[in-house]
Amino acid sequence: MTDPVKDRIIVALDLPTRKDALQIVDALGDDAQIVKVGAILFTEAGPSLLDELKKRGKRIFLDLKFHDIPNTVAGAVRAAARRGVHMLTVHAAGGQAMLEAAREAAGPDGPDVVAVTLLTSLVSEDVEQVFGRSPVSLVDEVVRLASLAVSAGLPGVVASPTEVKPIKRSHGDVLKVVTPGIRLPGDDPADQSRYATPEDAARAGADFIVVGRSVTGAKDPAAAFDAVARSFASGERA
Ligand code: C5P
Repeated sequence: MTDPVKDRIIVALDLPTRKDALQIVDALGDDAQIVKVGAILFTEAGPSLLDELKKRGKRIFLDLKFHDIPNTVAGAVRAAARRGVHMLTVHAAGGQAMLEAAREAAGPDGPDVVAVTLLTSLVSEDVEQVFGRSPVSLVDEVVRLASLAVSAGLPGVVASPTEVKPIKRSHGDVLKVVTPGIRLPGDDPADQSRYATPEDAARAGADFIVVGRSVTGAKDPAAAFDAVARSFASGERA
């Protein structure tokens, strides 16, 4: 059954083994429709895990953040499309030719290719160090990288909750914004330096939220998922 709120909550399965991941998926049941498989789990469990998740009726967000020459990224996107992946990430910093190659490889019926702008763990000093420019406004940098995604015809970007509004202001609804860095009130931010509650992310206009440790690290993951959904829904109504 589709649910307009729960279908926009992506659970990040950043767990060490296939068994741990499937345990969480089973504990969450039908409420969690979209699951994110990232570098940790994919490297450990391999692509066959994607088939198992599909068997359980899940839509897969493959978050391997491809960043390579266009030909290599296109091949990786085609492989993901053959596995029936629903959504995948590439780094906007890979450049326009790479982003276009990814979109073309996905084709009209393949996965939605979304571009990672700046990782939510980065602070201004990191960005200065990496790109060699100062001073850097993180928001300006994210909006600039999002325009690369628009030029390449991609349907979405990944950005922190605080960057959703500026992206929507510049690019309107052309881009769906996927926002990690989500924490329930009272949760440990851990390594996220730009984070928000689901409610605030919804208020800012986030199309999808990605929630990892707040759900997978909770004593009762299903209850935590429910709390995320309630918070997201109340932000939508605001
Ligand atoms: O546990 P937590 O909720 O912080 O997990 C966030 C997830 O979103 C992780 O899988 C992380 O790799 C991912 N992510 C992120 N920042 C980005 C892109 C993806 O945190 N810019």
